[in-house]
Amino acid sequence: MATTSRIQVFDTTLRDGEQAPGFSMTAAEKLRLAQQLDRLGVDIIEAGFPISSEGDFEAVRTIANAVRRPVIAGLARAIPADIDRAWAALAEAARPRIHVFLATSDIHLEHKLRITRGQCLAQVAAAVAHAKAYCPDVEFSAEDATRTELDFLCAIAEAAVIAGATTINLPDTVGYALPTDIEKMFRIVAQRIGDRAVLSAHCHNDLGLAVANSLAAVQAGARQVECTINGIGERAGNASLEEIVMALEVRADALPHRTSIHTQALVPTSNTLSSIVGIAVPPNKAIVGANAFAHEAGIHQDGMLKHELTYEIMRPESVGAPGTRLVLGKHSGMRGLDARCRALGYRLRQPELERLYVKVTALADRTKSVEDEQLAAIIRDELAAQMAVGAAASAGSGRH
Ligand code: KIV
Ligand code: ZN
Repeated sequence: MATTSRIQVFDTTLRDGEQAPGFSMTAAEKLRLAQQLDRLGVDIIEAGFPISSEGDFEAVRTIANAVRRPVIAGLARAIPADIDRAWAALAEAARPRIHVFLATSDIHLEHKLRITRGQCLAQVAAAVAHAKAYCPDVEFSAEDATRTELDFLCAIAEAAVIAGATTINLPDTVGYALPTDIEKMFRIVAQRIGDRAVLSAHCHNDLGLAVANSLAAVQAGARQVECTINGIGERAGNASLEEIVMALEVRADALPHRTSIHTQALVPTSNTLSSIVGIAVPPNKAIVGANAFAHEAGIHQDGMLKHELTYEIMRPESVGAPGTRLVLGKHSGMRGLDARCRALGYRLRQPELERLYVKVTALADRTKSVEDEQLAAIIRDELAAQMAVGAAASAGSGRH
């Protein structure tokens, strides 16, 4: 049986997430989100890329000074100027981390960096040693690890560990890998470096596999996952923090690992990010989307009214969502309608409910869904019509 281990949650919403078009944030907004990430319980906040701009430098420095519980990381290319700048931003942090990266795949070495494998190895060793001279906590990322030849990747990991890296991150930078590829890569690198450094996964979502790949990495020995709120990030995004965390929670039977995340803060954190960047999450987004706990189909509503486990694998309150919603639409059934009526304070008899059902489904056919105010108005009409019929009947019987 697998042993339970602690998975470090490394949040990169403020760095990789912020790099995505439309998601850039001011220093004040980044601080606000960092404070919310602190409340959420993440272990590491990657606050930015200090050399990239004055604003980002200031944001990292401000967060490093203000947010004291989590590790605060700053990104740097594997060159002295970047590392110096990262350290200048991080020096006041309670728990600083310099995160150094260099691409290692032949595609990147040949076409982007125009260096040989030997030069790459030497640059990694020198950059990590440079960072280590400032900070005991150094992470090295082998950019495009999943398209790097495995023997060379092992040599890179080895060189980074010898130079002082305490975390080795193996990113699927272009979201190309399948879970089986990730599992193989992590097992082989884990054999090579043993417990000399923490192995980390950083998966992009180009094929929609970022979360599955992160979990495959965990199963193969990764003890840190890099992820973002709402899965934002370059191109199709990064692995979504809320999805990884809840997969580990809900499927603890198969994935016996713990995180430090306060899951009830997941939806509030997602909402904080959406309100800052002005971009809502799609309604069908797992865990935090508006429909994640909504049920419209009659069969599903009937099941939910009998027992919530029929169609919900986690309780909405466990992630801080407002609650289960039974949505009235053209697919809804009589039991769902009755439940909505009761929630609005109306207990209807079966014939009234049947007449109401005909009206509600007709409206839903035109308007897609029926909101509570619309339902209340239809109920009031129906009851008024009934009273009128009743009054007419008793007036009629009085005449005889
Ligand atoms: O995707 C990636 O490779 C990265 C690194 C800089 C960690 O974001
Ligand atoms: Zn990335």
